[in-house]
Amino acid sequence: MVQQCCLDPAAVFLPPGVIVPVMEPVRELLFCRKIDDGTDRVSLTLHREDFSALYPGMIRFTLAVSSKEQIRAIFRTNSFEYSPLVPLKAETVALQTADDWEQQLRTSPALFFQDHWPESPRHTPALSPDLVVIQGSPRGDGNCSILAGWAVETAHVLGKTVQVIYPHDMSIHCCIGCYQCYNTGSCVFTDDMAEIIDAVRNTSLLVVCSPVYTNTVPGGLKLVIDRCQAYHAERVISGGKQGQKGLLFSVAGRKGEENFICITRVVTAFLRNLDIEPAGEVLIDHVDAVKDIRTIDGIEPTVREKIIRLLTNPS
Ligand SMILES: Cc1cc2nc3c(=O)[nH]c(=O)nc-3n(C[C@H](O)[C@H](O)[C@H](O)COP(=O)(O)O)c2cc1C
Repeated sequence: MVQQCCLDPAAVFLPPGVIVPVMEPVRELLFCRKIDDGTDRVSLTLHREDFSALYPGMIRFTLAVSSKEQIRAIFRTNSFEYSPLVPLKAETVALQTADDWEQQLRTSPALFFQDHWPESPRHTPALSPDLVVIQGSPRGDGNCSILAGWAVETAHVLGKTVQVIYPHDMSIHCCIGCYQCYNTGSCVFTDDMAEIIDAVRNTSLLVVCSPVYTNTVPGGLKLVIDRCQAYHAERVISGGKQGQKGLLFSVAGRKGEENFICITRVVTAFLRNLDIEPAGEVLIDHVDAVKDIRTIDGIEPTVREKIIRLLTNPS
């Protein structure tokens, strides 16, 4: 039963200026316990949110301590955190933590509030560039660099701001599948991914330039794609910009369209996961024989035309 007496932590932590939530989980208040900690009456609430629309069977529990309309301590756990060999369940952990917190609040509230604190507000980045290019080839002087260069120059001529990201020059830990990001909207690792997500968050156009490596994207770019799961979680929890567009520019050494089957699926899935609409692609095969794509008629104008169209007429 949903009671109105207690603060809803999900509602409280939406960052300012929030946009459209990607999905609304089914939220239920499991309990609201009133506790007199000696100076104040605090509420201990446990909410259960059903994210099954996102991932089958994903349930998140949010435990919060609040007083005077303010959240003072928060703990979240979700069912996907517990891998097969872990003998724990999210619900058991949430209920046990609730009992522990209640006990501490009744016996030593000062100590409790020393050890627990509310979530810090999400950092809001500076203005995002109009165009973000992820140059996914480890070769800084190869064909993907040429494609990225055309995109950047075209945007500059239009007076647009641009940021180019080179995953292979950055420090990016691989995603470890801990699913903590679905508790907080951010990753447990602090590294260069934050800069990438900041750039992508409010851009109008994301261009992914990638060579085909073993039928898919190179490792550095795959790190970025997987770690963007935390950005997906952020959007699920807090919403995000709508109407962003994405392009794939790709080169394959071998001849034949079939060399792009996997890479187009991977990059399309990546864009869709972030609610970025795939808005086109330029796929160039047989590049190991051609060596330099600048010698192929029509490629440069095609790339430039796509950038112009999407930066000047985004809708
Ligand atoms: C590790 C590795 C794996 C590759 N795998 C493929 C492949 O599966 N299919 C293909 O057509 N080309 C493959 N290539 C060739 C590259 O796609 C090609 O050389 C491309 O032009 C490199 O892009 P760049 O010039 O932007 O670095 C591979 C190259 C490397 C280094």
